[in-house]
Amino acid sequence: MTTDPFPSPRTALVTGGGSPRGIGRALAHRLAAQDWAVAVADIDGTAARAVASELADSYGVPTMGARLDVGDPASVREGVTRVEQALPPLVGLANLAGVSSPVEILDVTVDEWDRVVDINLRGVFLTCQAVLPGMIERGIGRIVNVSSISAQRGGGTYSKAPYSAAKAGIIGLSRAMAREVSPRGITVNTVAPGPIDTDIMGGRLTEERKAAMATDVLVGRVGTPDEVAALMAFLLGPDAGYITAATYDINGGLQVS
Ligand SMILES: NC(=O)c1ccc[n+]([C@@H]2O[C@H](COP(=O)([O-])OP(=O)(O)OC[C@H]3O[C@@H](n4cnc5c(N)ncnc54)[C@H](O)[C@@H]3O)[C@@H](O)[C@H]2O)c1
Repeated sequence: MTTDPFPSPRTALVTGGGSPRGIGRALAHRLAAQDWAVAVADIDGTAARAVASELADSYGVPTMGARLDVGDPASVREGVTRVEQALPPLVGLANLAGVSSPVEILDVTVDEWDRVVDINLRGVFLTCQAVLPGMIERGIGRIVNVSSISAQRGGGTYSKAPYSAAKAGIIGLSRAMAREVSPRGITVNTVAPGPIDTDIMGGRLTEERKAAMATDVLVGRVGTPDEVAALMAFLLGPDAGYITAATYDINGGLQVS
C-alpha cells in the first residue's frame, strides 16, 4: 500500500526513448502497459514519434513523441511545457538520453568532452530542473536517472573518461537533488547498469562481444533492456515512495560492492 497521493491518470516523460533496441523504449512500453500516459523524447524526433504511436496503438494510453535535445535548455523547456499542456499531470521523469565515448584520455578534445558531458550530465540537470516546479506544485514526482557501472569502475566495457565522469556526476547530482526535493514529495533515484544489449556501444553487439563483456559478470551474460526497464518502472511507481537518493546497481554482479 502506498502513502503517496499517486495521481491517475499520470504522465511519464522518457528521454532517449526513441532508440528501437534501447532501454528507453523498453521502459516506455512497461509504463504504458501500467497505464501511464507516456511522452517519448529523443534527439531523433521521428523515432520518438514512432515509439509514441506504437504505445498508443498497443495500450490505448495518451502519448506524445517529440524531438528534444536534452543538452539544449530551450529545447528542454519547450518540450516539458508541451508535455505539461498536452498530457495528464507529469509525475515521472526517466532520463535515458545518453551517448557513449570510447576515446582515450590523451585524445579527448574539449569538443568531445563537452559533447559527452552536455548530453549525459547537463541533460539530466536541465530536464530535472524543468520538471521540478510542476512536481513541487503538485506535491508528487518520481525521477529516475541513469548512471552506469562506468561511474564505479572507470569504464571497462566500452566508454572511457568523459562518459565515466558524466555518469559519476549523475549520482552526485541525483543525491543532491533528492536532499532538496524529497521533503516536497519528489523522489530522485539513480540506476547504474552494467553491460546491456543495446546499440550504444558502437552498434549492435555481436555474440562474440557479448561473450567477452560477460566474462566477469557473475550471472554469465549481458543484461537486457527490459531488465533495466523493470527496475526503473518500479522506482517510478506508486510503491517506491520511501526510496530516494538511492543508487541501484543492475549489472549481473560485475561490480560487487
Ligand atoms: N547499454 C548499456 O550497456 C548501458 C549501460 C549503462 C548505462 N547505459 C545508459 O542507458 C541509457 C540508455 O542507453 P541505451 O543503452 O538504451 O542506448 P541507446 O543508444 O539505444 O539510447 C540512447 C538514446 O539517447 C538518444 N539521445 C542521444 N543524444 C540525445 C540528446 N542530445 N537528446 C535527447 N536524446 C538523445 C539517442 O538518440 C538514443 O535514442 C544511456 O544514458 C546510457 O548511457 C547504457
